Amino acid sequence: MAKLWAGRTSGVTDSTADDFNSSIRFDKRFIREDIAGSMAHAAMLGARGILSDGEAEAIIDGLQGILDDLDGGVLAVDPQAEDVHMFIEQVLTERLGDVGRKLHTARSRNDQVALDLRMYLRHEMEAVMEQVRELGRAVANIAEENKAAIMPGYTHLQRAQPILFSHHLLAYAMMLLRDLGRLDDCRGRLNVSPIGACALAGTTYDVDRRMEAKMLGFEDVAPNSVDAVSDRDFCVELLSALSILMMHLSRFSEELVLWTSWEFQFVSLSDAFTTGSSIMPQKKNSDMAELVRGKTGRVYGDLMGTLTMLKGLPLAYNKDMQEDKEAVFDAVDTVKMCLSVFTPMLRSMTVHASNMRKAAQTGFINATDLADYLVRKGLPFRSAYKVAGKIVSECIQSSQVLETLPLETYRQYSTLIEEDVYDAIDLRTCVAKRCSEGGTSPESVERQLAWVREQLEEE
Ligand code: ARG
Repeated sequence: MAKLWAGRTSGVTDSTADDFNSSIRFDKRFIREDIAGSMAHAAMLGARGILSDGEAEAIIDGLQGILDDLDGGVLAVDPQAEDVHMFIEQVLTERLGDVGRKLHTARSRNDQVALDLRMYLRHEMEAVMEQVRELGRAVANIAEENKAAIMPGYTHLQRAQPILFSHHLLAYAMMLLRDLGRLDDCRGRLNVSPIGACALAGTTYDVDRRMEAKMLGFEDVAPNSVDAVSDRDFCVELLSALSILMMHLSRFSEELVLWTSWEFQFVSLSDAFTTGSSIMPQKKNSDMAELVRGKTGRVYGDLMGTLTMLKGLPLAYNKDMQEDKEAVFDAVDTVKMCLSVFTPMLRSMTVHASNMRKAAQTGFINATDLADYLVRKGLPFRSAYKVAGKIVSECIQSSQVLETLPLETYRQYSTLIEEDVYDAIDLRTCVAKRCSEGGTSPESVERQLAWVREQLEEE
């Protein structure tokens, strides 16, 4: 069948070229946005007298009929159509005749596709944000439930200093809050209407872009028509924000993989979120966490693919830009899927505070506190650091820990050390003393928790 755009050419294309060119298999996703956009367009054309009221009404009713038939299963998307825009216009024209042919007045697919994509991503982004908030709440709840648990904090994956497990968890909540901030920021620039830019230059018709934008829930209209149809920054920004979010999830996943290992045993995941091995009977694998970690690469790929597709593209619209959709759709789907598994996996996780505590008791993570103790007794920090280091070395040689080393031995290294050293190096003291703003003391963590909760509930 000849295309709606037949005229300059016969409109009859090679069937392989047709398949290659067609985007209906993926852009049918925003068929609802396309119909809503067309309804607003017809209403605006009617309001401006570009179409008669009767014509505008007939088009809006016709579009509503198409929507109803799609919902009712009476009408199916034609996989042969070039794209969703052509499909809707084609059906409308079949149903209404000449009136249907008037819908595309003062419009181009170039501004139409940008409009549809922005509208689609707007609600997808909101759905992702709600999922991120949900994960943030889950993290806050687990932090609250395990307030007293002490774990070794790590640097270089070596035991470093004792921290509260809740403090560690809240670090992830902070990342999620920044993710929300980035998504929100990106939403501001996304929620600008391109419609009315037409092919690239604007239109000779006396349109009302603001009316159309307002009807469709946009905060503003794009101020330059060339930019309006060329701009895919909103895709890149969304993909960047999603990539960073995935990076956070992958770091969290990696820790879960570590923590569930036999070597750590800090937490265990519910059976519902783990798998077994087909050969090794003892295995309980953290596949979901691994997959989230793995899928991060895929979302980065979507970002890189889109950036590369846009690189060096001359203004304004180019067909290359049709490639934006599969990338953003894939990224959004992947992130939503990851979050929908990650959050319940976390919620159903069991925390083994005693194992964390055990791990915190070995590894000399209170050595800094021993040095700080000596500083309080009058030694300059660098000298105190050296004495503490020597004591650690003594402990390693004699298979002891700082908590069990006799006072006489301590005093061989520094006579400043007295009985109160044991209290100073007690893990609880170590944690409680780190009361600097943002530190790991219980009061500080309590404040962080309250702040996180407050931020999560803010719109
Ligand atoms: N399917 C196209 C896309 O996704 C719609 C825009 C087509 N515009 C054009 N001038 N061929 O980008």
